Amino acid sequence: MSAAERWDAKYADAREPGLPSEFVTGHADLLAGCATAVDLAGGTGGTALWLAQRDIDTTLVEVSQRALDVATSAAADRDVQLRTVWADLEAEPLPTAAELGNEHGWHAAVCANFLHRPLLDALGGLLAAGGIAFVQIATVDNLHVNARPGRPYLVERGELPELCRGLEPVGFDEGWFGDRHEARLIARRAV
Ligand SMILES: C[S@@+](CC[C@H](N)C(=O)[O-])C[C@H]1O[C@@H](n2cnc3c(N)ncnc32)[C@H](O)[C@@H]1O
Repeated sequence: MSAAERWDAKYADAREPGLPSEFVTGHADLLAGCATAVDLAGGTGGTALWLAQRDIDTTLVEVSQRALDVATSAAADRDVQLRTVWADLEAEPLPTAAELGNEHGWHAAVCANFLHRPLLDALGGLLAAGGIAFVQIATVDNLHVNARPGRPYLVERGELPELCRGLEPVGFDEGWFGDRHEARLIARRAV
């Protein structure tokens, strides 16, 4: 079964977007001046819609057409503009910024709860100069309390900043956020 089929099945009963990432919403100040944003593997668009509602030209990238449909419907209901792009972010080669619809790169990028190490390595290439990235991934310590996500979807302690080569860390935090043990990185592409 492909990733698209697997995730379409998981979202089969989804009717509303999930909640926006409080990691991102809690750093709204860092989004000042960002005119464009992309949420990579952003699910049903909770965070993307939050960004779009702040008048940021936002693109939601997903492998699940079902998730994109939920987000599109919610955008219409909320009367906000949201771009949606179907793409496989584990494809080789990875899609470029231009292929995802923005040849200039985005001012902000979000990657939450989706681990594909080559994508994080390439994240700088999706950002405009000076652009900011928010990356949030559960760590292996999360397994002490939660059986999921499974081991392939978790970063090692201290690993996340190393994965985002080419970006300059602005802030890095690792620990328990509620009942999840996560690594949270904010990083910028050099100007
Ligand atoms: C755990 S969910 C996280 C969703 C959202 N980022 C969040 O934090 O709520 C993982 C997401 O990755 C998407 N995904 C899985 N494989 C993908 C791929 N190869 N390319 C693009 N998106 C993918 C799934 O459809 C799903 O929405």
